[in-house]
Amino acid sequence: MTNILIIGKNGQVGQALPSALAHLGAVTVLDRQALDLTDEHALRQTIRSYQPQIIVNAAAFTAVDRAEDRPDLAYQINATAPAIMAQMAQESDALLVHYSTDYVFDGSKKSAYVETDAVNPQSVYGASKLAGEQALRDVDLTVRISWVCGFQGANMVKTILRIAAAQPELTFVNDQIGNPTFADDAAGMIATLVEHEQRGIFHVTNQGAVSWHGFAQEVLRAAGLDPARVAPVLTADLQPPRPAPRPANSVLENAALAQAGFTLLDDFRIPLARLVRRLNQ
Ligand SMILES: NC(=O)c1ccc[n+]([C@@H]2O[C@H](COP(=O)([O-])OP(=O)(O)OC[C@H]3O[C@@H](n4cnc5c(N)ncnc54)[C@H](OP(=O)(O)O)[C@@H]3O)[C@@H](O)[C@H]2O)c1
Repeated sequence: MTNILIIGKNGQVGQALPSALAHLGAVTVLDRQALDLTDEHALRQTIRSYQPQIIVNAAAFTAVDRAEDRPDLAYQINATAPAIMAQMAQESDALLVHYSTDYVFDGSKKSAYVETDAVNPQSVYGASKLAGEQALRDVDLTVRISWVCGFQGANMVKTILRIAAAQPELTFVNDQIGNPTFADDAAGMIATLVEHEQRGIFHVTNQGAVSWHGFAQEVLRAAGLDPARVAPVLTADLQPPRPAPRPANSVLENAALAQAGFTLLDDFRIPLARLVRRLNQ
């Protein structure tokens, strides 16, 4: 039986993974209490004791703005810990599956980013995640995702619905575009990639590029509310300004998936409608 160790139990992605990977082996999921990634000794000991054939790292320092003030912590969790996981995987001939982000790109490209495009993160978070990617081996699987939404955990769909319930007008930026990605859909694709023994970097997102303003409109539409309630704003006009710069364009073309012959994930509006129905039940 394949031992699968998932790190990051309570995150949006971490909560979607166990059921998606269950058919591949015996799954153990650890939260921060069971394994704190800032404790390098504990990380080594834990991996040694579980002897996993597959390690899935869904944990990360994901507070993009807070990372600007805590680069040490962001690097410890997003770069040093994955580097140790890669070393441990190397020692025991295990596969490491790791998550990265659209924020490794600077957003200046005029079309969607493919896996081989030059990286140039603009924030501490993006740079720490890139350092994590770069610590991995060619035989590991790195999955770049973006704008994650799921039933569990905090995410923009829930935030948008909460604001819509509290006030008549919502304001979202219309000059940052990306691909909303639903945690369950992405988890299913990760299982497929592992099953098919894929290695290297893959962009895994739902299809359909949209601005945050457009996405908020889609969320309202899915909830049966009036999308015209969402007003656009430019990032430069946000008050107060956000500490960490975000890429204006972080659309991820799923080029490696397409090239390997996998069916791409659905347009984001399909899982969005499912999620809004589920949240409203
Ligand atoms: N969210 C997005 O939009 C997005 C976009 C692109 C890429 N990603 C990447 O996708 C992956 C999963 O993100 P997510 O959205 O699921 O993030 P999330 O919901 O913020 O979850 C992150 C998880 O990491 C855990 N964690 C943080 N510090 C830790 C530590 N020191 N030791 C152990 N665990 C720790 C957290 O534990 P607690 O629950 O105890 O806080 C949390 O469960 C990450 O690699 C992230 O960089 C996310």
